Amino acid sequence: MWPREAAARRALLGAVGAGLLGGLLAIGQAFGLSRLIDGVFLRGADLAASAGLLAVLVGLAFARAAAGAVGDVCAQGLATRTKVRLRARLAQQLVALGPRFSSGERAGELVRTATAGVETIDPALSQALPQALLAALVPLAIVAAVAVADPLSALVLFVTLPLIPLFTALIGSLAAARTAEQWSTVGRLSARLLDGLQGLPTLVALGRADDYAGEIAATAERLRVATMRVLRVAFLSGLALELLATVGTALVAVQVGLRLLHEHVEFAPALFVLLLTPEFYKPLRALGAAFHAAMPARDAGQRLFAILDNGFQRRDEPGAGPMGATSRTELLRPQTPTGFRAEHGAVPPEESLAIAFEDVAFAYPGGRAALCGASFHVPAGEVTALAGPSGAGKSTAAALLLRFFEPDTGTITVGGHPLSSFDAEAWRERIAWVPQRPHLFFGTARENLLLARPAASSEQLERAAALARFDEVVGELPQGWDTPLGEAGARLSSGQAQRLALARAFLKDAPLVILDEPTAHLDAALQASLARSIRALCDGRTVLLIAHRLETLRQADRVVLLAHGRVVEHGAPAELRAAGGAFARLWAEAPA
Ligand SMILES: Nc1ncnc2c1ncn2[C@@H]1O[C@H](COP(=O)(O)OP(=O)(O)OP(=O)(O)O)[C@@H](O)[C@H]1O
Ligand SMILES: [Mg+2]
Repeated sequence: MWPREAAARRALLGAVGAGLLGGLLAIGQAFGLSRLIDGVFLRGADLAASAGLLAVLVGLAFARAAAGAVGDVCAQGLATRTKVRLRARLAQQLVALGPRFSSGERAGELVRTATAGVETIDPALSQALPQALLAALVPLAIVAAVAVADPLSALVLFVTLPLIPLFTALIGSLAAARTAEQWSTVGRLSARLLDGLQGLPTLVALGRADDYAGEIAATAERLRVATMRVLRVAFLSGLALELLATVGTALVAVQVGLRLLHEHVEFAPALFVLLLTPEFYKPLRALGAAFHAAMPARDAGQRLFAILDNGFQRRDEPGAGPMGATSRTELLRPQTPTGFRAEHGAVPPEESLAIAFEDVAFAYPGGRAALCGASFHVPAGEVTALAGPSGAGKSTAAALLLRFFEPDTGTITVGGHPLSSFDAEAWRERIAWVPQRPHLFFGTARENLLLARPAASSEQLERAAALARFDEVVGELPQGWDTPLGEAGARLSSGQAQRLALARAFLKDAPLVILDEPTAHLDAALQASLARSIRALCDGRTVLLIAHRLETLRQADRVVLLAHGRVVEHGAPAELRAAGGAFARLWAEAPA
C-alpha cells in the first residue's frame, strides 16, 4: 500500500516521522524525569540545581505535543488526498464503463461504494497504515533504550512484544467475517431504499408500500444485529489488548521492584524503565484500535477495486476475487488526465456517414440475444426508419450505434471504417440522439438544454426550443428557463420531457441523428406540428428514425423492419407496400 503519488508519500512519511519523533521524545522525557526525581529525592538536589533539567522537560513535553499534532495532520492529509483521487478514478471508471454498468438495480450499490465505501478507507489510511509502521519502529527504539539502562527489563519487554500482534491477528480473523456481513447488509439496505424510493408511486398504487416499509425495517434490524456483533468483537479485542499491556507492564514492574528491594538495580534506571514501559505498549494498542477502525475498509475496498479493475463483476459472481493487484497500487499513482479513456481511436470522417450493420449480434449480460445477425444500411444523407414490434431490438441497434455497447459478433462500419476504430467520444460528438426515455438532470430547464451544447448562445437556445415547441413548456414554468426541474425532471410530463430531448437534438446540430420514437408521448396535434420541425432536423443529415407511426414510416427514404433481432424486410416504403410482405400487412391492419 505504499503510495506512489509524491504528495501522499510525503504525508505518510510525515505521519510516521512525527510518530517516531514522538517516541524518541518520550524516551527523553522518561530519562529526564527519572534523573530529576532521583536527584531531588535521593540526592537532595535543590531547585537551582534542577532548574535546567525542569526546563528541558517542559520543552520536551511541548515538542511531543507538537509532534503528535503534526502526525495527525499528515495522516489526515494522506487520507483526504487519497479519497479525492479514489472518487475521481471511480467516476472516470464509471464513465468509461458506460451505461451498461451503471444502470438498473446496480445504481444504489454504486452510489454507496462511491460515497460511504470511499469514506471507510479513511481510517485505514489515516490510522492503520501509519500505525503499522510506528508499531514496528517505536517499540524497538524503546527496547533499545531500556536495554542500555536495564537489560533484564528489555528482555521481558522483548518477550511480550509478539503477543500483541498475535492476538490482534487472531481476533482480526474473527472480526473479518462479522464486518463483511455488516457491510453487505448495509449494501442491501441502501439498494432497497433507492429502488423503493424511485418506484414509490408504483408501490403505493399497487398497495405494497407497507410491505416495502416492513422489508426496510427488517433489513435495518439485521443491520443492527450485524453491527452489534462487530462491536462485540471490537470490545473483546480492546479488552485483550489492554489486558496484555497491563500484564506486560506488571511483569516489568514486579521484577524491577523486587530487584530494587534487593538493591540489584539503581533507582534512576529502574524509574526510567517503569516510566517507559507504558510507552512501549502504546503504539501496539493504537495499532489494535486502528486495525478495527480499518476493518470495514477491507470489504468496501474489495468492491471498489473490483470496479476499478474491470467493472463488471459482482461480489457473488464467479471470479469476483479479492482486490486486483493492479488497482491497489495504481490508486496512489499520480493521475494522468487521459489515463481513464478506454480507447484512443481515429477521428471519424467529417462527411460520408454511410452506416452499415453487418451480421451484428448482441445479447445483454445475462439476457437472450437482442440482435442476432442483423444486417442493414443507413445511407448517408437519408432517413432510414427502423420499425418492428416491441422488443424487436430497435433501441438496441441505436445503443450499439452510440457505442454504449460493442456487438458480440459482426461489425458496424461508418464510411467503410469499423466503428470500433473511432474514438468513442469523438464519434458521439457527431450524433444527436433523442432517446426513448429521455433523462433530465437535477438542474434548471436552461442547464438541461445546454447539456447538448454548453457554449450555445441564448438565440441558439431559443431557436432550438422553438423548433421542438419546448418554448411553450418553458413559458408555463414558474421561473421560465431558470425553473429547477428536480431529480429525473420530476416537474415535466413525459411529453414535455420529450420536447426537451428534441430541443437538445436541435441544439446539438450534429450530422447523424438518431431518433428513438421522438413523438411517442405527444398528442396527435403536437405530433403533426412537430413533424415539420423533425423533417427540417432530418434534412440533409443521416438519420436513423425508430418509429411506429405509418405516416412517419411513409416519409422515410428506407424502412428496415426488425423482428426478434433479425431484419425481416428492408427497402423503400412504397416498394415494401407493393411487395405484400410483413410491412404491407402492417399497413393494411393500421387504423385509417
Ligand atoms: N438493459 C437491458 N438489459 C437486458 N435486456 C434488455 C435490456 N434492454 C433491452 N433488453 C432486451 O433486449 C430485447 C430488445 O430490446 P429493445 O429495447 O432493443 O427493443 P425495442 O425494439 O426498442 O422495443 P420497443 O419498441 O418496446 O422500444 C428485448 O428482449 C429486451 O427485453
Ligand atoms: Mg425501444
